[in-house]
Amino acid sequence: MLVYSSWKDYLPKSYQWLQQLQVEEARELAADAWNLVAVRSENEQLVLAHSKLTEVLSKNLLAALEERAWTLGEKQARLVVDGKKFLVLAQSTVKTNQAQVARQFGMDAAQALSKAKLKDVQLAACGELALADILEGLLVGFEDGQAFKSKDTSELPKRVAVLGLDKAETQRRVELAKALVFTKWLQDAPANFIFPQQFATIAQELFTNKVAELVVLGREEMTALGMGSFLSVAHGAESDPKLVALKIKGKNPAKTVALVGKGVTFDAGGINIKPSAGLEEMKFDMSGAAAVLGAAHYFTAVPPPVNVICALGAVENLLGPQATKPGDVVKAYNGKTIEILNTDAEGRLVLADVLSYVIEKFNPDLVVDIATLTGAVIFGLGHAGAGVMVKDQKTADFLKHVSERVGEPMWQLPLWPELESEVNSQLADYKNIASPSVKAGPIMGAYFLREFVKDHRCEWAHVDIAGTAWSCSATGYATKGGSAYGVRALIGAAELFQS
Ligand code: BES
Ligand code: ZN
Ligand code: ZN
Repeated sequence: MLVYSSWKDYLPKSYQWLQQLQVEEARELAADAWNLVAVRSENEQLVLAHSKLTEVLSKNLLAALEERAWTLGEKQARLVVDGKKFLVLAQSTVKTNQAQVARQFGMDAAQALSKAKLKDVQLAACGELALADILEGLLVGFEDGQAFKSKDTSELPKRVAVLGLDKAETQRRVELAKALVFTKWLQDAPANFIFPQQFATIAQELFTNKVAELVVLGREEMTALGMGSFLSVAHGAESDPKLVALKIKGKNPAKTVALVGKGVTFDAGGINIKPSAGLEEMKFDMSGAAAVLGAAHYFTAVPPPVNVICALGAVENLLGPQATKPGDVVKAYNGKTIEILNTDAEGRLVLADVLSYVIEKFNPDLVVDIATLTGAVIFGLGHAGAGVMVKDQKTADFLKHVSERVGEPMWQLPLWPELESEVNSQLADYKNIASPSVKAGPIMGAYFLREFVKDHRCEWAHVDIAGTAWSCSATGYATKGGSAYGVRALIGAAELFQS
């Protein structure tokens, strides 16, 4: 275990900064702060974008760039024109949707400001780039992964102002940024810091007085309840597994959306041990749970329109003497038996019981589970978007809509009817992997989970984030660890759910 007095000791400086940040409201171009202006190329001509740039100013700025023989390849320029300071920044275009482009622009701005140690910035809409998205990108863009260094040298601005954004939306984006930085931090944290008990402690210390209900179950409680599927994963580790569930009341308590995350704090594979190369990456196997806690962070500050349940199953998948063996049969919380043919397909065993529990206890209208479930989803979709699988088509249509709105790409994978029977075991009710010839890893993962939701009235979607949870271009953190992918989509699902 890492040495610390409180887990809060290791929170990144940018999170503390966001906690005290007051975004100011401006009415005109800043006289003293850096005005952020977007530049792109159209028909080989430089084009500037900023909602308050007059034609004259635009001309003068372009003339100043020309004078320097500035090219887009330089990415940025700092200019003082007509007594005002301008940070001109190239906008990236290679993204799946527009929200991502605006967010990336904000993140690039944060990097530029931080590198040059500039302490004040003013933002406005820049052409097609929406101000709220630029602000969000800027606010998360200062997180630079130094939380576990002995000295955090992050350079953070003293003042951030927005020109043309209402207070409520500004506040919403500040809260979203806090949630995103928090989730990325949880992901990047090593497995000797974020272990199952730590998930419970963090949830308790952050949310106890802010939620209607908080449940934490350990090995003892889960044993009494008969959660043999979840517990089978915990047998190989000494650490106490934790099922954490919390309820946040919505303005309309008649509807409930449940968010359920896979929180395997380290996945060694169990007795079906994983190969050595890249094994350290399996600390990220709790990214679904981290995204769910990020959503909880947000909704405890910005009340949701409907009730929101945030639930996670936290456990280490290791190889102790009591570890589950391939071929073992266990009984899940819903009474069904499962033949565990591969101990490395553990995420579905954890989620099966958490899903049953959440549905029984909270009777949700929509359940979205989010998990780094299968390596195979990376072969299908790469790192630019997640796979989504559903019980009813309307849920996929809804999530597609949400994902486009929030700028977190998702692509639906089909539950081919031909594959359904592949979850059936000869010996038990189900088996946790399909026959080797089937191959369709993400779909079979979804089919397995579907068995635990199909007899209930709720809508259900399963989001496989194995390709997007870290080193993913979709959210803007291209190479530096956790991506916080899913936080925006989970929040969007709860905020936009109406049926
Ligand atoms: N945590 C892994 C999935 C994973 C792999 C996430 C690579 C991110 C990157 C999961 O528990 C797992 O091991 N799945 C197996 C399933 C198989 C045994 C059916 C896999 O993907 O190989
Ligand atoms: Zn695994
Ligand atoms: Zn796993």
